[in-house]
Order: sequence, then C-alpha cells, then structure tokens
Amino acid sequence: MADFHEFYPLRAHNTFGFDSHARLAAHIRSESDLVSALSDPRAAGLPVVVLGGGSNVVLTGDLDASVLLMEIPGYEVGHDAANWLVTVGAGENWHATVGRTIADGMPGLENLALIPGTVGAAPIQNIGAYGVELRERFHSLRALDRQTGQFVTLDLDTCAFGYRDSLFKRDGRDRYIITAVTLRLPKVWQPVLNYGELARELESIPAPDAAQIRAAVIAIRSRKLPDPAQIGNAGSFFKNPVVEAARRDALSAQYPALVSYPQPDGRYKLAAGWLIDQCGFKGLDDGPVGVYGKQALVLVHHGGGTGAALLGLANRIADTVEARFGVRIEPEPVIL
Ligand code: EPU
Repeated sequence: MADFHEFYPLRAHNTFGFDSHARLAAHIRSESDLVSALSDPRAAGLPVVVLGGGSNVVLTGDLDASVLLMEIPGYEVGHDAANWLVTVGAGENWHATVGRTIADGMPGLENLALIPGTVGAAPIQNIGAYGVELRERFHSLRALDRQTGQFVTLDLDTCAFGYRDSLFKRDGRDRYIITAVTLRLPKVWQPVLNYGELARELESIPAPDAAQIRAAVIAIRSRKLPDPAQIGNAGSFFKNPVVEAARRDALSAQYPALVSYPQPDGRYKLAAGWLIDQCGFKGLDDGPVGVYGKQALVLVHHGGGTGAALLGLANRIADTVEARFGVRIEPEPVIL
C-alpha cells in the first residue's frame, strides 16, 4: 500500500507558490514506491500527476488527482571509451548535480547551473541555457511505461528532444514516469562559450575551467532571474517563437532593434523577452501577479494570487504581442 496523504497542500511544491491541494499525494522514494502508488486502489480512476521541483508548472486550482512527489535518490558513475556516464535519480536536485559532477572531475553541465528543478524533470522540457541543451549531455533514461507496466530504457533518439520540447510533452505525456537519467559527459571536455553574454562575463579569465564557467552562469542568472525562494516564478514563462526567414526579415525591416537568432533549419528564433518588453509589460504589477522588472519573459507571483489570474495576464501579454508583431508566443510551463 502506498503512503498517501489526503488533501495535501502543494504550495511548497510549486515555485510559483500558488495554493492548491492534491486529493491524494505520496512521496516516491524508490521504484517500488512508484509501483505501489500506481496500483493502490485508493487512486484507481484518478489522473496521475508527477511533481519534481514544481519549477515548471502552473497550478490553476486543486488537483483532483493522485500526485506523486518524485524524490528518488541516486548517483552512480560509469563510463564508456569517450564519456562518463552518470546515472542520477529523478528526485535529485538539478543544480546540486551540476556542482557534484564538476567537483568529481566530470565537467560538461556548467552552462546549465542554477536551473531550478529536479533531474527527472530536465528531459521533459529539454532544459537549456547559455548555449547548451540537456540533449547534448544526455545518454538515456529509465522510466516506467504505464501502458505496459514495465520499466524501460529510452535512448536519445527515442526522447525526440527539441527546443524546450520532447516526447514527454507530446505522445509520451501521460505514458512514461521518469525514475533516473543517465548523463553523458565527454572525458575530453570542451568549454561552450559561444553565448555572447557568457563570453563577456568571462572576458578577464583567459582559459576558464568548468568551475569558473559555472560561477559566471550563476552570476548572470542571479542578476536577471528572480530566486523562487523569494519571488514566486517558473523561469521563462514563454518560449522564444521560431518564425520563417521572410517573417523575420519583414519584422526586422519595421523594427531594426528586433533580437533574433538564426536556426540550423534556416528559420529564426525571436527573443520573446524583447517583444514583451516593447509592448511595455516589463515590471507590470497586476495585483498579486506581474511581470519581472529585470526580464520581461518571467512572470511572477508575489503571494495571495491564483494560477488562473496568472494565466489571464499571460493571455493578455500573448494577445498584445500578437496584435503588434503578428507572432503568437506560447507558454513554456505545464499548466495543470
Ligand atoms: N530582452 C529584452 N527585454 C527583456 C528580456 C530580454 O530586450 O525584458 C532581450 C535581451 O536584451 C536579449 C534577448 O532579449 O537580447 C534575449 O534575452 P536573454 O539572453 O535573457 O535570453 P532569453 O531568450 O530571454 C533564454 C532562455 C532562458 C535561458 C537564457 C540563456 C527561453 C524561453 N529562455 O532566455 O531559459 O536561461 O536564454 O540561455 O528559451 C527558462 O527556460 O526558464 C530560462 C530561463
């Protein structure tokens, strides 16, 4: 039998800090805890919601669901000819894992420092920052396939990673529950310093090592992203929209300051933060929810508000951006 709690408060389990209760919730500390929670008759017929750090969700009300609080630990180092293969439990903290691998002499995750959340959540949106995405450091993951009841290993191709996207946001959405992730860290390390802001931060250090790059990433993020322990938020609220070259050229003729980045497929990613900023939303307070003053892409909750109010603001922002630039921006977090 699983150790279920009824009407369990989730405020401490979502970084927006919204008040919400789960009909049932269980702490999952092993694969066998997971199996018992899924087969428990008390949860029969209820939807299952897996929460890691709760750093990429918007809770819009109480969850009439069986909420599994993913806390599976683990850290095991293996290797093949070219790579360290580090298998980490889904419930381990991501940022702590970045620090631990570097301290253990296996650099590679330094550009992804200070991203909130757990290791098991990282593949779902293919976390990325400062020129590196998880998929470039990913070997495989272990998950329970709810369709067959079997544990499976899914490799890089099967996970179908894209920009803030994967199998787990699409066909695999309610099918797989991730229990461990195997990271692939090349034994021959190459720093990634192609992100302008990161290169500038490290200007005074001729050949920075992974620990120095990690420190620089922490410095940049701390300057422009709010600490969820202080202000409720889920990092970037919108994805940067990707548009055809013709659309980008037309926009950039009209708005010479438009920020855009060429993509390998010939299209362009537009900086949603810039688009929102141009519409005057940066620093806006709409009662208990608002737009962060130092980064227009981040929505914040000051306390006492609801996920529904936040979504209302998000829609207003997306509508205004679309009316002005003809581009629809989409939310990044999972809305529950
Ligand atoms: N900008 C503005 N005004 C703003 C915000 C941004 O003009 O209010 C401009 C900036 O001046 C810059 C451009 O927009 O020229 C891009 O801004 P930034 O470098 O801050 O990156 P971003 O596109 O806003 C993305 C990721 C972040 C990631 C950084 C660094 C997305 C949705 N966001 O932000 O990821 O840390 O790049 O790689 O792709 C997250 O996903 O939660 C997240 C924080």
